[in-house]
Amino acid sequence: MAAPRRPRQHSLPTQVLHAGEEPHDTDAPVVTPLYQSVNFISEIGRSDSVRYPRYGNTPNAEIVQKRLAALEKAESGLLLASGMGATACAMLALLRPGDHLLACRWIYGGTRRLLTEEFASLGIDVTLVDPEEPRAWRRRLRKETRAIFLESPVNPTCRVIDLRPVSYVTQENGIALVVDSTFASPVNFRPLEHGADVVIHSATKFLNGHHDVVGGAVLGTAPYIEEVRQKMIMWGQAPDPFACWLLERGLKTLDVRVQRQNHNAMRIAKWCAERREVRAVSYPGLPDHPDHEIAQAHLSGFGGMLGIELTGGGRGADRFIRKLRLIRHAPSLGGVDSLVSEPRHSSHTDLAADERAKLGIPDGFLRLSIGLEDADDLIADIEQALH
Ligand SMILES: Cc1ncc(COP(=O)(O)O)c(C=O)c1O
Repeated sequence: MAAPRRPRQHSLPTQVLHAGEEPHDTDAPVVTPLYQSVNFISEIGRSDSVRYPRYGNTPNAEIVQKRLAALEKAESGLLLASGMGATACAMLALLRPGDHLLACRWIYGGTRRLLTEEFASLGIDVTLVDPEEPRAWRRRLRKETRAIFLESPVNPTCRVIDLRPVSYVTQENGIALVVDSTFASPVNFRPLEHGADVVIHSATKFLNGHHDVVGGAVLGTAPYIEEVRQKMIMWGQAPDPFACWLLERGLKTLDVRVQRQNHNAMRIAKWCAERREVRAVSYPGLPDHPDHEIAQAHLSGFGGMLGIELTGGGRGADRFIRKLRLIRHAPSLGGVDSLVSEPRHSSHTDLAADERAKLGIPDGFLRLSIGLEDADDLIADIEQALH
């Protein structure tokens, strides 16, 4: 007798639509209904089955949590109220007063302040590491070190960090490797396949992709995610059901959106690289990018984000932004509409110009978040603004 057929494992383009779904009965709605309710009738005589939005277990949160876990190939996942909420609770679940954290120097400005100011005030010591220094992670390790935190690709410079050598250090020392993968989304990179233990996303960006939801996500093992959930409950960082519902809708198009953003960003990066008004282009898909080989080996796509440095410096950058018509000036990223931001006035505004320059963000540096418009229209907009 023929062996019973095992159900086919769906791949990512199908998972973004269906992972985590229950089998549908006749008449069931195709779209998950929005349960915009704070209260759910509880079972009498049990305390473990209480549903409450702050506990992160509403039906709209649970389906997205299962879907994201499937996309990142994680045992479990949790949705939170923002990317910052996700990072804060993910790290609070790993660190105690007296512990030490190694964090990459190249991280989003908000995360840097969270770690170096807020966590320092909780008695957690944080060392910022230059990842280009030889054996940087190993040399900074202390017996109190509990985790390494990094971001890849890096906001806003689009540098790509090779996780393998970092994961050898975390595995040998029994500590956690935490990766903020916001810039990549699971379409372009899945850090758990490369030695990470925990993945963080600002779901505000590519995961939702429509500029209308603030959210965050943490993915990892089931016992760890349970600890993150406890922090989320106590610090009040759970998302609202409507945000989860919108996020589920946004996720359905994640694969097609990111594929198009990858394509558009590559075209624009190549075009900008030929212009004399552009001193440098930072896009991992270009052969002269310092991490091109790592990106080629580990990413499934080079992403929708790119950095350009204009020859006209800070004033030239301000002038350029003022002349753009299609690409709008706004601080977020990863959505369907193309945006431009100047990190010296947004994510890295608290650093002095020379400190920013050392991080690869000189005055005149602009971060472009490429959306779904036609690439030729975007190029035409950039061209008229450069004139
Ligand atoms: C890489 C990265 N991580 C985390 C965050 C924080 O996300 P949120 O704004 O959703 O709190 C951001 C925000 O820009 C980011 O760019």
